[in-house]
Amino acid sequence: MTPVPIDNDVYNRVGATWWDEDNPLNLLHGSLTPGRFAYFREVLTDRVGREYAGMRALDVGSGGGFLAEEFAKVGFCVVGVDPSAVSLATARAHAAEGELEIEYLLGIGEKLPVRGTEFDVVYCCDVLEHVTDLDAVIDEIARALKPGGLFLFDTINRTTTSKLVAIKMMQEWRWTRLFDTAIHDWSMCVRPGELVEVMGRHGLQAGDIVGLGPRSTNPLRLLDMTRAARGRLPWGEMSRRLDFGRTRFTGISYMGYAVRA
Ligand SMILES: C[S@@+](CC[C@H](N)C(=O)[O-])C[C@H]1O[C@@H](n2cnc3c(N)ncnc32)[C@H](O)[C@@H]1O
Repeated sequence: MTPVPIDNDVYNRVGATWWDEDNPLNLLHGSLTPGRFAYFREVLTDRVGREYAGMRALDVGSGGGFLAEEFAKVGFCVVGVDPSAVSLATARAHAAEGELEIEYLLGIGEKLPVRGTEFDVVYCCDVLEHVTDLDAVIDEIARALKPGGLFLFDTINRTTTSKLVAIKMMQEWRWTRLFDTAIHDWSMCVRPGELVEVMGRHGLQAGDIVGLGPRSTNPLRLLDMTRAARGRLPWGEMSRRLDFGRTRFTGISYMGYAVRA
């Protein structure tokens, strides 16, 4: 496997505290998880209905289990896969505290530790921009899905705006960055058209693509980023104030779905 030009070990170094509002990773929890899950529920309602008892969902790159817990709470049997052992331990402990039955497995998207055609839904959120081999991950996701199964995703676009936000603001500028390490490499970010093309090659037919970003128009929220970076505002609270969710603009992050042919 080729070396990844980003620091994916950060999920081991700080992965014990995903659920702590002061951990920058909690940005994904504050309003991003409710925002992403609200969109996924709309897609699920349209494509699958509202009853998920007995349905199986696979979370590729499950991190601290933010989305796995949402899917489990609405009735899915969830399996989460992640290469970070520390994050898996955190996710397991948090699920146990909440009495949620979620199976967490050590593994990578490029070689999923699951049998084929097992899952009704596979989702992969904020992960595609971290993987060494996008083609292999999409191939594995298609393999894991039942025919007619649903793939849900969100990821960072590769645009000038995403470079400003995800690279400059979130990891380079001292007064706004989350970590002083490279959590993203802009060249690994995926444009929607590229993802649609790769999915198509692996039998995943793309549905719609929508934007994912901050919905707050209050310019003071930028000051909140600097306060969070200086430890004066919890990252979870900053995320809630930015009110991440579905937007029309796809230039920073986007989410969408595809159906296994
Ligand atoms: C930004 S976090 C997203 C976590 C979770 N999906 C969420 O949205 O809350 C990225 C996650 O991808 C995982 N990851 C990195 N490389 C991966 C790979 N090749 N396959 C699967 N997961 C990977 C990391 O360990 C980390 O937990």
